[in-house]
Amino acid sequence: MTPMVKAEGVHKSYGSAHILRGIDLEVAPREVFCLVGPSGSGKSTFLRCINHLEKINAGRLSVDGHLVGYRQKGDKLYELKDSEVAAQRRDIGMVFQRFNLFPHMTALANVMEAPIQVKGETKAVARERAERLLDRVGLADKAGNYPSQLSGGQQQRVAIARALAMEPKLMLFDEPTSALDPELVGDVLDVMRGLAEDGMTMIVVTHEMGFAREVGDSLVFMDGGVVVESGHPRDVLTNPQHDRTKSFLSKVL
Ligand SMILES: Nc1ncnc2c1ncn2[C@@H]1O[C@H](COP(=O)(O)OP(=O)(O)OP(=O)(O)O)[C@@H](O)[C@H]1O
Ligand SMILES: [Mg+2]
Repeated sequence: MTPMVKAEGVHKSYGSAHILRGIDLEVAPREVFCLVGPSGSGKSTFLRCINHLEKINAGRLSVDGHLVGYRQKGDKLYELKDSEVAAQRRDIGMVFQRFNLFPHMTALANVMEAPIQVKGETKAVARERAERLLDRVGLADKAGNYPSQLSGGQQQRVAIARALAMEPKLMLFDEPTSALDPELVGDVLDVMRGLAEDGMTMIVVTHEMGFAREVGDSLVFMDGGVVVESGHPRDVLTNPQHDRTKSFLSKVL
């Protein structure tokens, strides 16, 4: 089976700062892959490499069997054109800590926007899907609200619906609940749990270890730009093998 994401020796530097120092990992289709680690360890950088918002400096990174940003001919790599990169990115949904909704658009319009602009869908088709997705994230009654008229948790659920509107094959979540008041976290995690049950492949950067344990299929602990330890969430969380993992978990559990 082709892995949904495969990283082999992935390196990324910003100037002289060597951030990712050889990441090797595989995410299977339908897997919920949790990524944890201290601030600055490179989690967001890695997600950004997966959808080619950043270019890697060495190694190989592929999504669903296709190299990210490159085409291989023989043993040579050729950079994809911007339009080809955009096409690759269309299959990957990304949800950020800050929801980044369009402030001047209603929840419904936010969810309709990309399929119309990027895929050239008709308004009627986009609207029907947007209504269905807002219903799925529990916000059918808020379709006409602007972001400023929604709680943080509601905005984040709209952001998830917006990403799903492009019918991605992979969803990347970068600390989707860490900007939320504690009482709003549960609804967002419930939506993510539902997605997982429906078989969506997800990489989730999170400090919600309860979610990782219950919903995650695997958990990777990253520190200093390398994978320190990985395994089934229950095993890593209850029986970490490395001191760095133990020390990190003692702070977040
Ligand atoms: N565009 C950039 N230019 C220069 N340095 C950057 C850039 N983006 C990230 N970095 C640096 O790369 C390192 C890793 O950052 P990254 O955001 O990937 O960490 P993280 O694991 O997501 O941390 P956090 O848990 O705080 O979100 C940090 O030291 C950061 O300062
Ligand atoms: Mg980050």
